[in-house]
Amino acid sequence: MSPLHVTRTLPEDATDAALRADVRHGLTSSPKSLPPKWFYDARGSELFDEITGLPEYYPTRAEREILAGRAGEIAAASGARTLVELGSGSSEKTRYLLDALTGLKAYVPVDVSESALTRAGEALVADRPDLDVHALIADFTAPLALPETPGPRLVAFLGGTIGNLLPAERAAFLSAVRTLLAPGDGLLLGTDLVKDEAVLVRAYDDAAGVTAAFNKNVLAVIDRELGADFDPGAFDHVARWDADREWIEMRLRSRTAQTVKIPALDLAVHFAAGEELRTEVSAKFRRDGVTGELAAAGMELTHWWTDKAGRFALSLSVAR
Ligand code: SAH
Ligand code: TRP
Repeated sequence: MSPLHVTRTLPEDATDAALRADVRHGLTSSPKSLPPKWFYDARGSELFDEITGLPEYYPTRAEREILAGRAGEIAAASGARTLVELGSGSSEKTRYLLDALTGLKAYVPVDVSESALTRAGEALVADRPDLDVHALIADFTAPLALPETPGPRLVAFLGGTIGNLLPAERAAFLSAVRTLLAPGDGLLLGTDLVKDEAVLVRAYDDAAGVTAAFNKNVLAVIDRELGADFDPGAFDHVARWDADREWIEMRLRSRTAQTVKIPALDLAVHFAAGEELRTEVSAKFRRDGVTGELAAAGMELTHWWTDKAGRFALSLSVAR
């Protein structure tokens, strides 16, 4: 069996320093906010996997439907010998691509969640001893040093995770992805589409409260890592559609006036009753917008597939 290579691109104390800087900056800004990558500790990754199975959370099922139907076309168009996946999580839907890419030599899953990466990686090397699996614990918004593997390369970014970046971050991210590609290499991008507001809000505010627990998990991460005394029960989960910016905004609303202590930062943060902390945006897309953003980053959209209900799109682009 081929071994699983796991590379940590950042020492743990650098992750620590980044968390401290992000929390200090976000909680002393007005309005308050936190960057979404801190949701995904082991518990957060577990909760996200639970979200993907919720009846209200359609994106995972819609994207799986597209991958199941189109993996052969994707494989034929890309001819990739290396598949790099950003924010790979459980790598569950990726199986369709790994099975269809007949000349594939290497799979490089990239994620900040070490627990998700090792679980997915171990399962994969057991099933696919022929494949060189090189897992990278890394932040995909920072410059990535990929292992030397054979081309052509296909970079996959699934799950609509691109929608969790703000527009300026998205442009910078797509330009950085372009630098990972040689001319002719591909980007496979999953984007959730603009649709009825009620359907969108339900997907981010499910009846069982799993998304609420996921949202509040970021407070538990700050409690554990920075010794803070956030009481997750003192906040309500809020998911709101912003029709102008066409994104869902996730917030945590303070139920009362309260002051939270964060000893590791020597900081006390006051929340007014009803004050909201923004934890995440999830932008929804239209075909023209996706085509234009890719073109601006030096990529040309060649294929656009949606699920039958037209809720979610997978696009394939080629680097020029
Ligand atoms: N691709 C999977 C998981 C999507 S959830 C799917 O489609 O179901 C988003 C994933 O991206 C999580 O696994 C999370 O840990 C990872 N992630 C979020 N921000 C990240 C960042 N800045 N760098 C690397 N990984 C990140
Ligand atoms: N990429 C996922 C999305 O935007 C992440 C996600 C799903 C999420 N549900 C969430 C993030 C709830 C924060 C809160 O659909």
